[in-house]
Amino acid sequence: MRVCVAGTGYVGLTTGVSLAYLGHDVVCVDHDPDKVESLRSGRPPIYEPHMDALLAEASERLTFTTDYAEGVPGADVVFIAVQTPSLPDGNPDLRYLRSAADSVGRCVAGGFTVVVNKSTVPIGSGNWVDAILREAFESQHGRRPAGEFSVASNPEFLREGQAIFDTLYPDRIVIGSDNPRSLDVLNRLYRVILNQTFTPPTFLPRPAELGAVPMVSTDLASAELIKYAANAFLATKISFINEIGVVAGKVGADVMQVARGIGLDARIGPRFLEPGVGWGGSCFGKDTAALITTAGDYHHEMPIVSAARTVNQQQRRAVVDRLLQELRILKGRRIGLLGLAFKPDTDDLRDAPAVDVARQLIAHGARVSLHDPVAGERFRREQPDLAPRLCDTLDEVFDDSDAVVLVTKWSQYLDLDWEKYVGLMREPVVLDGRHALDRGRLERMGYRYLSITGA
Ligand code: UDX
Repeated sequence: MRVCVAGTGYVGLTTGVSLAYLGHDVVCVDHDPDKVESLRSGRPPIYEPHMDALLAEASERLTFTTDYAEGVPGADVVFIAVQTPSLPDGNPDLRYLRSAADSVGRCVAGGFTVVVNKSTVPIGSGNWVDAILREAFESQHGRRPAGEFSVASNPEFLREGQAIFDTLYPDRIVIGSDNPRSLDVLNRLYRVILNQTFTPPTFLPRPAELGAVPMVSTDLASAELIKYAANAFLATKISFINEIGVVAGKVGADVMQVARGIGLDARIGPRFLEPGVGWGGSCFGKDTAALITTAGDYHHEMPIVSAARTVNQQQRRAVVDRLLQELRILKGRRIGLLGLAFKPDTDDLRDAPAVDVARQLIAHGARVSLHDPVAGERFRREQPDLAPRLCDTLDEVFDDSDAVVLVTKWSQYLDLDWEKYVGLMREPVVLDGRHALDRGRLERMGYRYLSITGA
């Protein structure tokens, strides 16, 4: 099938590259000529495991351009996957979506095109995109559209760092559409994923337990709400275990054992019960805020989702409180933060807990040094005022420090030769912000181990 993808961020690029790998002809459009140039020469502008390999395997069926006219006319499916960042009032900024929908509406021609919204949008945006497409079509063609296109919603559940895995082996595919023809087109587009009949890439084998992938087909509004509800639930699940962690710390219980003990109940499930400094990233904060705002439009508060956000902020503050408790005074103390990206295997710094924690420590007068195995370059660009605190080596982070904090669970930190560094520190305090380090081992080496829950 012929596919066009507007936007080459995480979602758009993963979608485009994966669909080309699966045998479709894909044109990816992005307004940024530098991105397009870099992708044409096989260099993904984002750090995502396996992306370059898949890009190389799919290159014959994949084109990158800045021009919608090269991709939209004659496409069976156009995905709109542009960014929808949060505005200060919690609403998403839909400017890029409007502009993409306008360009698509002008270029759509020939046959029947399903325009799929993959950006996370407020509930009801399907109708809004449809109106923009119609207006743009009419201004270009001088007549109203007569069934040339139809809008569908196909929310994305991919995790950064596992984006390609999640696209090829999803838990489910959700399609929202009020038009049976669109449903049929998208069913055909995704058939090889739904039935798992494609040859897996050598570097990403199919999980043994995976059978056919369920498809959830709904109306537009339900599909849009599924995305928000899923993210709000996951964010709440993490905040829930973090809240339990606080109580565990008070009563002397081990929150990791508690998480295991409840997670084995099939109704709860073991995933997303890892306690720590909490969630960050481009989705959970933005989507929970947008969901609360949408509910507010109908005069409904969302106390559970709001509380999940509050608890998440508390977790970031807990790092500072724990250090204050241990070191008493933070002024002048040298504190190293291990990990800047909001989670391992990505260089994404959006809503990263480390940035918040660093700023809070600095406000307390601490001398903060920062390290990340991958996100350093991006950090320099995006947080220029904090950039001088960035260290290239771990020796610099540990040297003469009063504490180091594990903020992001990069495997490099878990596998670190901790013994080598203990002697460099002025005070050998390690605050494990992810419950990921081996306490006994570190204590035998001479570290003073603190967990974020205070136990
Ligand atoms: C998330 C959703 O998982 C995905 O389905 C959606 O499409 C986009 O948002 P992502 O932001 O890539 O994906 O990250 P994810 O792996 O879900 O982690 C989110 C945050 O939660 C990270 O900061 C992570 O460190 C944190 N987390 C995750 C925890 O603190 N504890 C956990 O148990 C799991």
